[in-house]
Amino acid sequence: MSHWLFRSIMRRRFKLEVLIGILIPMVILYYMIASWSAEVKIPLNDGKQCNESLGPSIKDDIEKVKKYSFPGVEKYITELFPHNLPDEQNMPQYPVFVTAASASHYTELMDLVYNTTAVRKKYPQIKLVIYDLGFGSSQVKKIQEKCDCEIRKLVFEAFPDHVKILKGYAWKPIVIQMAAKEHPFVFWMDASVRFVTTDLDGQLEDARNLGVIGTKGFGSIASRTHTKTLRFLGEQPCTFKDTMELEATFIIIYANKLVSEMILKPWVSCALSLGCLVPDLNTDQYLHCKSHKEPVYFECHRFDQSILSILTYRLYHLNIEKHKMTHTFFRFCKGVDEQWYLPQFLNEMYIRYNEHCF
Ligand SMILES: *[C@@H]1O[C@H](CO)[C@@H](O)[C@H](O)[C@H]1NC(C)=O
Ligand SMILES: *[C@@H]1O[C@H](CO)[C@@H](O)[C@H](O)[C@H]1NC(C)=O
Repeated sequence: MSHWLFRSIMRRRFKLEVLIGILIPMVILYYMIASWSAEVKIPLNDGKQCNESLGPSIKDDIEKVKKYSFPGVEKYITELFPHNLPDEQNMPQYPVFVTAASASHYTELMDLVYNTTAVRKKYPQIKLVIYDLGFGSSQVKKIQEKCDCEIRKLVFEAFPDHVKILKGYAWKPIVIQMAAKEHPFVFWMDASVRFVTTDLDGQLEDARNLGVIGTKGFGSIASRTHTKTLRFLGEQPCTFKDTMELEATFIIIYANKLVSEMILKPWVSCALSLGCLVPDLNTDQYLHCKSHKEPVYFECHRFDQSILSILTYRLYHLNIEKHKMTHTFFRFCKGVDEQWYLPQFLNEMYIRYNEHCF
């Protein structure tokens, strides 16, 4: 080997060593700083007395909810909640089925469409409205052919910017209210909802008596709600330590005046206020709940579901179990997100393979 080549190799090696020598400590430092700055999570059972609770009377809860403040949303709210509605004397007997999805949940949505046909045959009064959060135009056509429904495009531009973040779920209460404004009896269903019976008489009756019914969930609201959100509402996290969330996958909403004012209006207002339902724009990092050995405050954030849970507890905590439904007449069948670059039949296979019903 020539002397020149040898020196050139040695020089390169030296450079590499210097590079590695700098890179490795930098990576270690980065992780150390990241772990220091990660919020230390406080266990729910921190032994502290909570200085605020729900109630004692519903009047107190209503006063509390009325104190929530949502600056800057009035122009949307006056549009979504006209003064003269709902007309309490003319409440509908039957609900409208409402759902929303985008291109990545096309197959799941079509399964919902097929699955609801039997129920809708039994209750021909029940219409289906699908809000389009971003389907492809060929998908819209195919849905239209099969669904016997109304498809409405959600115009994101009409709302604050953060509503566009699909995984921020601010769109959900907004869509529900858009439907409830026209027809104040709504069965909200995520695309994953499936009916295992066609007889809904009991559920319809319960809804007319109870107002809002959500799906029974098992996580503590305090551990599944962002600290910023609770601060925004002026709620103490510890108030919701022992209250188990309601899931917003399937919600029955009989939107009389009380429900409209005390649940839908604050829910939608919170959705429209950045910092409330959507705590900030880093939505991806909050949704996933890690399971800690012992439950902690703000393990994760469940967006629409967190707020719905807080509001239903405020309004119904004396009687909350009645407002929770278990999986007796329905199932959830969740697949995975479809990939736009795969042909439809592969997406369908992929979803069938990964689908999980419970
Ligand atoms: C409860 O304690 C928090 C601080 O821990 C305080 O900010 C809040 O005002 C207190 N609430 C009441 C009703 O005393
Ligand atoms: C809807 O889905 C459920 C759960 O998979 C199933 O049991 C039921 O038979 C389906 N109904 C219809 C009409 O397809």
